Amino acid sequence: MEKLRINEVAPRDGLQSQPRQVSCDDKLRLISALVDAGVAAIEATSFVSPKAVPQMADASELFPRLPDPQRIRYSALVPNERGLERAHQAGVREFAVVLSATETMNRRNINMGLPEATNVCASTLAAGIGTGMTGKAYVAVAFACPFEGLVAEDRVIDLTERMFAAGAVEVVIADTIGAAAPRAVGKLLHHAVRRFGAERLSLHLHDTRGFALANAWAAMEEGIRGFDTSVGGLGGCPFAPGAAGNLATEDLVLMAEQCGFDTGIDIAKLRLAMAVATSITGASLGGRTAQWLCAEDARRLKNVEQKAGD
Ligand code: COA
Ligand code: ZN
Repeated sequence: MEKLRINEVAPRDGLQSQPRQVSCDDKLRLISALVDAGVAAIEATSFVSPKAVPQMADASELFPRLPDPQRIRYSALVPNERGLERAHQAGVREFAVVLSATETMNRRNINMGLPEATNVCASTLAAGIGTGMTGKAYVAVAFACPFEGLVAEDRVIDLTERMFAAGAVEVVIADTIGAAAPRAVGKLLHHAVRRFGAERLSLHLHDTRGFALANAWAAMEEGIRGFDTSVGGLGGCPFAPGAAGNLATEDLVLMAEQCGFDTGIDIAKLRLAMAVATSITGASLGGRTAQWLCAEDARRLKNVEQKAGD
């Protein structure tokens, strides 16, 4: 069976904009449930300014406490060299920088214009790699920006090229506000795959308009096998108005497995992680398959009860 690489981002993208402050212990409960379900790669936190994102203020406390660090690939997002230093001290081996494809989105997100952000991302990558860490880069708002509208494909390809040139092992193309549709996803990824190779690319999707699964499939048709997903569809960027939840892990796992791909994730155990996600955030789940999965649970329970009564 062909493998799909799933990078779980609920602990970072999913929790960063939650209105209810989530404690470090609760984050670890969520991460442990994800690990138990078979998730092999997790973006655990971000080393950003605690003033900008209060939910991630505990990054240095959380990272050294992560379960099974030898087996699980944990990563963390860093916006600058200050974040890189903090990450390095906390034991991070794999980090990600975020470069938005437009001037305004960079200003809102990291308080730099596009040229400065490009340079800072490149120098942060080089500095991290120099200390033996592995670095990857997000190219955010790669299809549309909430402030500047549609983003030109050439610009995304160019920024992707620059991040590879700076040493990124992987570039994650991100539909930060969930504005892309399958044809645009297929077209951009077709060019990117031809230029850079599918194994070095992955896709980060939001489900704002309900297109995330269709977009994932369009990318899979172009050979993309790496995806960021978030359990329960938790997610949203505090600096990108209109960004709703991420592509839900359970949605992609269910579709991929039904289409003959191996994700390594046990959907029944993922149900427990979904329950933890709901209980620690108090938020209702955003994934599209949650309702069906609940109905399946009820059906199975009924079968078990019937058998016990026989
Ligand atoms: N971690 C912790 N603190 C940091 C930091 C980091 N990575 N980078 C800067 N700071 C601190 C500085 O020490 C300074 O603290 P002080 O006010 O106590 O002196 C303060 O933050 C401002 O620093 P400055 O360099 O002027 O940054 P800024 O105000 O221009 O903000 C960022 C720039 C990048 C630090 C901030 O915008 C940020 O963290 N953005 C992340 C946004 C995000 O996570 N988005 C979602 C994911 S894409
Ligand atoms: Zn996101």
